[in-house]
Amino acid sequence: MHENTVREAFPELDAIADDDLRTGVVDAWATAMTDNGVEDLAGVPWLPPVQRDLALDDESLVDHVREVTACALALAETLLDHRQVDISLDTVLAGALVHDVSKLAEFDGMDATAVYDLLGHPYYGVHLVARAGLPVELAHVALSHTHRTTVEPATLEATIVAHADAVAAAAIRSRATDDLRTV
Ligand SMILES: [Fe+2]
Repeated sequence: MHENTVREAFPELDAIADDDLRTGVVDAWATAMTDNGVEDLAGVPWLPPVQRDLALDDESLVDHVREVTACALALAETLLDHRQVDISLDTVLAGALVHDVSKLAEFDGMDATAVYDLLGHPYYGVHLVARAGLPVELAHVALSHTHRTTVEPATLEATIVAHADAVAAAAIRSRATDDLRTV
């Protein structure tokens, strides 16, 4: 029932060529909304503990995911333009769009849940991605995009999403500091 909300939140879904992949990404978000009683997807915060520390209460998860997806696509297209390299744009797009889906389970408003404390979003992200029937390559993107695991990106697509996430998160943190080493 949340599928339309997800499609409206993430217009980048239309750029995914493979129908099953696009449907799986929508399903992962819609299921996470249902399971966690999320009605207002646009109102879900980006990362409550950091936002609280930096007094950045207006950052949203949807905006962040869209920024990561745009950054990742730009990186992938730039590499494809400049060298003979094998990159699946579908995997980059779908991976960027699902990399933080588990945050719907990790926070209840601004409060951390047991999923955040005991699992964290890389691990619960794998669960949600696999449950939506998405391929293991996308579970790997979710698992390896953050230093909260010891699993490094093994593919170019996962590397691209991890770096896109890092710069998009840095752009948020830069609002609170002139020196990103300090936050
Ligand atoms: Fe992220």
